[in-house]
Amino acid sequence: MRPWLLSLAGIVVLATLASASPIDSVTHSDQLVLSSPGSSARSPRPLVIWHGLGDTSLSPGILDFINLTQSIHPGIFVYSVKIPLEGSLDDERKAGFWGHAEEQGEEGCEQIRSIPELKDGFDAIGFSQGGLFMRHYAQYCDGPPVKNLITFGTPHYGISALIPCPTPPTLTCLLAARAARAGIYKPWAQTHIVQAAYYRDTERLDEFYEINTFLRDLNGERPLAGEMIGEDESKKREDRGQGRGLGGLENLVAVMFDDDRTVSPAQSSQFGTYAPSNKSEIILLPSQPLYQNDWIGLKALDDKGALLLLHCPGEHMDIGGEGGCGEKMLRDWVGWGK
Ligand SMILES: *[C@@H]1O[C@H](CO)[C@@H](O)[C@H](O)[C@H]1NC(C)=O
Ligand SMILES: *[C@@H]1O[C@H](CO)[C@@H](O)[C@H](O)[C@H]1NC(C)=O
Repeated sequence: MRPWLLSLAGIVVLATLASASPIDSVTHSDQLVLSSPGSSARSPRPLVIWHGLGDTSLSPGILDFINLTQSIHPGIFVYSVKIPLEGSLDDERKAGFWGHAEEQGEEGCEQIRSIPELKDGFDAIGFSQGGLFMRHYAQYCDGPPVKNLITFGTPHYGISALIPCPTPPTLTCLLAARAARAGIYKPWAQTHIVQAAYYRDTERLDEFYEINTFLRDLNGERPLAGEMIGEDESKKREDRGQGRGLGGLENLVAVMFDDDRTVSPAQSSQFGTYAPSNKSEIILLPSQPLYQNDWIGLKALDDKGALLLLHCPGEHMDIGGEGGCGEKMLRDWVGWGK
């Protein structure tokens, strides 16, 4: 059940990649990028990519990145998650803004689970908000395991302000921003606007804990909701909502862009937040209760040297081309098991 995934006996199938035709004309049946003839025993571990806001699964930027991945790790199988699976490019771009984050996470889970090449596990890359969906997979999906998870500029501890629209702004972005501002902690926004699912305003934490489920639970903060305050400690601990957490990863590589002005605060890409009610102060991971009490397995990862807080220079998602920071991460953390 993967009509758009071609294999052609192990040849790289991305017919239009090499041609001069515009990438946007890639039809869904051309989609994925498979790999190498024979010798599967020597193939590098597969890679799954989850793109970011405003992007699509096979945009020119993602195709370049896949191409780079395949030139570094010849024969690697790469899958790029596409939400919705049956939809136009415009549907895909819209789904980055509009939709129910938990349902999109579940949809990605089903896609990944249905692909035989991924059955023994895979490395995962999440770009920006795509990294939260990869965490949703790693923490809740009953599918093959994620080995190394690499996130680029992912707002792991939420955003305290909306992601700015691109210049010039798209209508989809402007409308989503307007709807979000109208009531980001209203039930409707929480289930219909993707950014609302990870909007964590440190001046309105009570509302966040009460209404949010996606990010709150990913980070094991469910017991902070008022309705649960009365419950005893052991019950709270059992019911943090974090699924299996992240302790089962081989490595978590959280990359922060040093000049990131898109994610607020930029340190969220490494589990930093503003201090409650003080946006002049940043609380970094080691000082977070999340880490100190190991709600989601980050400390366990760190204790075995498997939590890497790395940096790329530049603005949000400025991964550079050949020789850039993205390439370095691909070389260091992807394609093991050759
Ligand atoms: C893919 O990468 C190779 C080597 O870096 C380059 O020569 C080629 O032009 C790239 N192809 C596309 C379609 O970007
Ligand atoms: C906010 O944090 C800054 C930096 O740590 C500190 O200097 C300032 O006093 C704090 N403001 C309040 C109101 O606590």
